[in-house]
Amino acid sequence: MQSGITIRPLEDADFTGFLEIQRVALASSPDVFGSDYEWFNSISILSKEQRYEKYLNYPYTFLLGAVREDGTVVGMVGFSSDPVLSKTRHKCRTWGLFVIDEYRGQGVAKRLLESILETARDIVGCEQIVLSVSTRNEASYQLYLRNGFNVYGTEVHAMKIGDEYVDEYLMVKFLR
Ligand SMILES: CC(C)(COP(=O)(O)OP(=O)(O)OC[C@H]1O[C@@H](n2cnc3c(N)ncnc32)[C@H](O)[C@@H]1OP(=O)(O)O)[C@@H](O)C(=O)NCCC(=O)NCCS
Repeated sequence: MQSGITIRPLEDADFTGFLEIQRVALASSPDVFGSDYEWFNSISILSKEQRYEKYLNYPYTFLLGAVREDGTVVGMVGFSSDPVLSKTRHKCRTWGLFVIDEYRGQGVAKRLLESILETARDIVGCEQIVLSVSTRNEASYQLYLRNGFNVYGTEVHAMKIGDEYVDEYLMVKFLR
């Protein structure tokens, strides 16, 4: 089912596809992402568009998509770095990894992550990449471990959902 899927940075024209996968991600995985579904529904389309535009600065800040031939975005991951800040530009971050249900278990997330690591190391020149993952999210935790990330700390009560707290592992991979 993975044939015909291209891994590429999302562009202006992918805005609608991005909104759809973000909606599905926030609705189906509330304990995984910092943003919430109610917030997503409450903000205007203009505000969504303005936020999206901030992620169109490849290779420094972008959304990497797994995109079907018909333009449907079936997977996505974010990447941020700041080449201007001399003391911290050796660090970068990845966040928001998500693959829609029907495409899971076929290596899509692995391809997204490998591509992010390649861009970070070979194009941006980052020395280390960080991420955070819920301590309950075994699938993602395993994926990151297998791709060379290690835990360097735990943020206790990183999120509060209703009355329940979610802790997060802080993970890093050194790229050189
Ligand atoms: C986690 C997620 C992105 C994995 O996507 P995917 O495309 O199915 O993952 P892949 O097929 O590329 O699998 C890559 C590796 O991830 C790990 N993995 C994926 N699904 C897993 C599962 N259900 N249980 C344990 N490990 C799993 C495995 O290590 C796997 O490698 P392997 O196939 O060699 O064993 C997907 O399940 C998802 O979107 N989950 C909800 C959102 C989420 O948790 N995002 C992460 C936020 S930090």
